[in-house]
Amino acid sequence: MGQPDDGGAAARIEQLRRLIEYHNHRYYVLDAPEIADHEYDALFRELQDLEASHPELVTPNSPTQRVGAPPVESFAPAPHAFPMLSLANAFDANDLREFDARCKRMLGMGPEAIIEYTVEAKIDGLGISLTYEQGHFVRGATRGDGTTGEDVSANLRTIRAIPTILPDGLGLPSSFEVRGEVFLSKTEFARINAERGIEGLPLFANPRNAAAGTIRQLDSSVAARRRLQARFYDIRSDGRIPASTQLEVVELLRSAHFPTNDPTQMALGVEEVVRLCGEAEHTHSALDFAVDGMVVKVNSLALQAELGQVSRSPRWAIAYKFPPERARTRVLRIVAQVGRTGAVTPVAEMEPVFLDGSTVSRATLHNEDEVRRKDVRIGDFVWIQKAGDIIPEVVEVDVAARSGDEQEFAMPAECPVCGGAVVREEGEAVARCSNPLCVAKLKTGLQHFASRRAMDIDGLGPAIIEQLVDRGLVRDFADLYQLTHEQLAGLDRMAGKSAANLLAAIEASKRTSLARLVFALGIRHVGEHVADVLASHMGSLERLRSATEDELSSIHEIGPQIAASVAGFFADPRAQALLDRLVAAGLTWEEARSTSNMEDAFIAGKTFVFTGKLEHMTREEAEALVRSRGGRAASSVSAKTHCVVAGPGAGSKLDKARELGIEVMSEDEFLSKLGSPPDADNPTGPHQQSLAF
Ligand code: IVH
Repeated sequence: MGQPDDGGAAARIEQLRRLIEYHNHRYYVLDAPEIADHEYDALFRELQDLEASHPELVTPNSPTQRVGAPPVESFAPAPHAFPMLSLANAFDANDLREFDARCKRMLGMGPEAIIEYTVEAKIDGLGISLTYEQGHFVRGATRGDGTTGEDVSANLRTIRAIPTILPDGLGLPSSFEVRGEVFLSKTEFARINAERGIEGLPLFANPRNAAAGTIRQLDSSVAARRRLQARFYDIRSDGRIPASTQLEVVELLRSAHFPTNDPTQMALGVEEVVRLCGEAEHTHSALDFAVDGMVVKVNSLALQAELGQVSRSPRWAIAYKFPPERARTRVLRIVAQVGRTGAVTPVAEMEPVFLDGSTVSRATLHNEDEVRRKDVRIGDFVWIQKAGDIIPEVVEVDVAARSGDEQEFAMPAECPVCGGAVVREEGEAVARCSNPLCVAKLKTGLQHFASRRAMDIDGLGPAIIEQLVDRGLVRDFADLYQLTHEQLAGLDRMAGKSAANLLAAIEASKRTSLARLVFALGIRHVGEHVADVLASHMGSLERLRSATEDELSSIHEIGPQIAASVAGFFADPRAQALLDRLVAAGLTWEEARSTSNMEDAFIAGKTFVFTGKLEHMTREEAEALVRSRGGRAASSVSAKTHCVVAGPGAGSKLDKARELGIEVMSEDEFLSKLGSPPDADNPTGPHQQSLAF
């Protein structure tokens, strides 16, 4: 056979596409293939070859395009032609009976009437809406806020069970939306997490999060590698839909080759609904996908229309939520675990037990008070359940099963990771490792250190930090300044150019301000504003690092809690050693305006908000100026705001200021109010000071 001419090629391509989609449906939806894999592969290859020699005939809906499209920068907004509603919840049989009674009342039926309902699984996935025009898939979107979602068509096309070309002759309207759920099976979820574990990537907490992360992938080839599934249960159109009941809708979807939410069962009256929901409670965990309840719908579409909706939920449907599953097991140990924020959390290590689809051997006890309140002891038999169906927690102790040998848990006084003091501040439930340089906190600490408002190291993101710490290249902040080009270039996802860029950004960050450095250290209770106050009052790092608690708390705006935290930080020889190493690395900054220059009563102690366009300085410079003179810069207007400086284009913040009767002025007025308008390039005065004192 020779090469078909263009007309012939187009026809054969169209024929192959329909054929392949037909076999996709047989294989992926019906699980009943008609041809052998190699025959399917041959059809697929023929289509690929034809498309390769006729690239102008390639369309997004071709089966060959299901492997993913080129990555995009962001998703386009996708307005829904019909809002995507949410469901009201029922938690027990009585809630279901009330729902039934309400339906009857609204429909003017007597209490004896019997309503026909459908009952189907509530899949714990993500709601999606697919748009079809003239029998072709044109767009798929997430739920978003129910009115507008995100166009994730490229990712949805990778799901082979979703038909891109529909069979003819079903009487479907020319344009409609199909609603359903995308999700990952428990098996696929476990496979993805195992793979991520090997690659050192953070694990997904549950299949739903994994599905959400997949459907929002900007690179659809990633989505193509994860086997997303979809099931559909609804169809919406301005045109006539050839169905008069919910069950017929499901049948119509099935004939149109959509994977449907099976089984959709019929129930005559609410007592049958109650029975079906109760049965499902015991059977759902055997399914290979997460189901968090059952959806009950009035079967007749005419009655559905009559019932209508109330505040974003239909009156004709309700979600019956399963009570969380529980399991009984034994506490072997209680260990203190240090989290990324330094919180020290007691965790029960237990005899492994199967719960809600996974084997559980650890459960959080949250904090010391919780351990006391529940009186959990080492050796106890306990009931556990999954909070929000994700994190296992101990609900209750089986006190009757105690032998008397159980032991109480005591919070360690020292951090199990670094040996620093574990401190629980007054009024707080959480105990923390007080050493800000504790390695358990290093990764979050570095993220903060590098952030824009701290040392501003562009390109030093979480993925890079993860590798730097895991490979032992960075053990504290100062190590960043010892990194070499070779070390950076050797990291994953780091091309030569970006290694050079990162190195330059690290170098550039050495020129900073004392306030930024103090903020970057991540001292507890020291946010940006407090760092500014400390820097401007102390004037030099030398004074700050040797200040006593009393000295610190005598500063306006520095309370006893902050003073204790700051003094405690600098009292630690490890912190002093770190500062010495940062100094030695060559950090320099411009000296902050000293306290004596802060008599500016116009700014000191007041809160300013800048809005609209500023002519003489950037917003950041204006905010720095306010802070350097003892004022506060906020981003939103509230009753605590003293003054709003508004430039051209100011909008809602200005309106709010007027509404609250807050002083409003222009940028020029603001500048003229300052005794000596600053040089816009250098608001705090250029006193170059080296850290090497
Ligand atoms: S019907 C008018 N049926 O649950 C509302 N929803 O809480 C139409 N869901 O946004 C929803 N399984 O994403 C329906 N069998 C099912 C469902 C289901 C899961 C999701 C859906 C919806 C949410 C409502």
